[in-house]
Amino acid sequence: MNTKPKTILSIFGTRPEAIKMAPLVKALEAEPDVRSIVCVTGQHRSMLQQVLDLFDITPHHDLAIMSENQSLNGLASRIIASVDDVITAEQPDRVLVHGDTTTATAAALAAFHRQVPVAHVEAGLRTGDMSKPWPEEMNRRVVDVVSDLMFAPTPRSHANLAVETLQGRAFITGNTVIDALQSVTKRIDANDALRRTLDARFPFLDHSKHLVLVTGHRRESFGRGLRDICAALARLARRTDVQIVYPVHLNPNVRATVISALGGAQNVFLIEPQDYLGFVRLLQRATVVLTDSGGVQEEAPALGKPVLVMRDVTERPEAIDAGTAVLVGTDSEAIAASVHLLLDDANARAAFSRRVNPYGDGRASARIVAALAGRPFEEFRPVVARGTKDVVGVMREAFA
Ligand code: UD1
Ligand code: UDP
Repeated sequence: MNTKPKTILSIFGTRPEAIKMAPLVKALEAEPDVRSIVCVTGQHRSMLQQVLDLFDITPHHDLAIMSENQSLNGLASRIIASVDDVITAEQPDRVLVHGDTTTATAAALAAFHRQVPVAHVEAGLRTGDMSKPWPEEMNRRVVDVVSDLMFAPTPRSHANLAVETLQGRAFITGNTVIDALQSVTKRIDANDALRRTLDARFPFLDHSKHLVLVTGHRRESFGRGLRDICAALARLARRTDVQIVYPVHLNPNVRATVISALGGAQNVFLIEPQDYLGFVRLLQRATVVLTDSGGVQEEAPALGKPVLVMRDVTERPEAIDAGTAVLVGTDSEAIAASVHLLLDDANARAAFSRRVNPYGDGRASARIVAALAGRPFEEFRPVVARGTKDVVGVMREAFA
């Protein structure tokens, strides 16, 4: 007897959601009993398109809602109204959303209002502080409240869900970002010509110098936090053995501060947002990664790169526990001192540079598809890395 395929509507809109949903979309497309429909809200425009091109995804619906320096309420209301039309047209059996963006929350609410079940990919991340990250901590909580299936990347995020009063079922799947990262590193590592082409994008890089790779874009850091981050980078750039590479996020609030503080500074290379291939290549070449990004905190440990997290709290404590990431805040002295310490102390660097995979093993999408299909699967169990608390402790004391 032929059963009607289930329509699964995946909705995403920003660069990180697209990177993390791409492997899942591919896995859903390969499922015989699924009609996979992709709707992009277009919360991001060019940064989203870069990912769709790389993973060869052609959305069935593109809501194209981005506007210059958009407000959260304008964005949320446009998404709810437009997603409602897509739900009405497609009549999905289920909606899939990812993470903690306005797209995820507004799309989940639109589905809830139409009584369509919602599944949340990357569920259960928490800092416990509604203002950090803002508005993401609220967004991810709201999505979990309305979801009947929650795909927690790690045991820690699963435990966070277990102590909340939620109605959905939660599974530990690993993070799909590791699926995406593995597919891209495989492409880069297997292809000398591709590696040369990617490296040709960065002719200014000098192999004899340390590459410090930076990303910073969080809303709660706009203003003073971002200015302090830039002050730290300006200070670091005085070293002649360092090259600082900062792909600058397209948010005008980020660009205004970063370009006015660092444009023209020696040893600082402000570049345009890279497609995922280009950015992963930079990660591979980096000595140290400085970031406030969620995804980069997950990718760098998997590549054995030390990460200094320029935030006060993180919803991704696993790499910190494993001793390959440290929270350094946004104080310029603490940031500069941490990077100096890592660059000057090869032992500290070696301790931080262990390859650990607390966030996934490359099989998250397969587990999520199995859970959606009601098939049995083994949940993700990370190999617990032995922490290097001695080095981390020294850094924490030094910068307390
Ligand atoms: C959003 C997410 C944040 C996520 C980040 C990933 C929310 C509230 N914020 O923040 O959680 O970490 O994406 O990067 O959902 N812009 C462009 N072109 C682009 C993308 C952005 O010009 O391709 C500019 C536009 O002026 C846009 C502005 O950036 O209005 C802000 O974009 P928005 O998605 O609202 O916020 P992000 O800071 O990108
Ligand atoms: N990234 C990218 N190009 C860049 C900078 C980052 O492809 O120039 C990738 C990065 O590898 C990670 C994701 O974008 O997978 C992180 O996105 P972002 O920092 O915008 O958002 P967050 O993860 O903080 O939500």
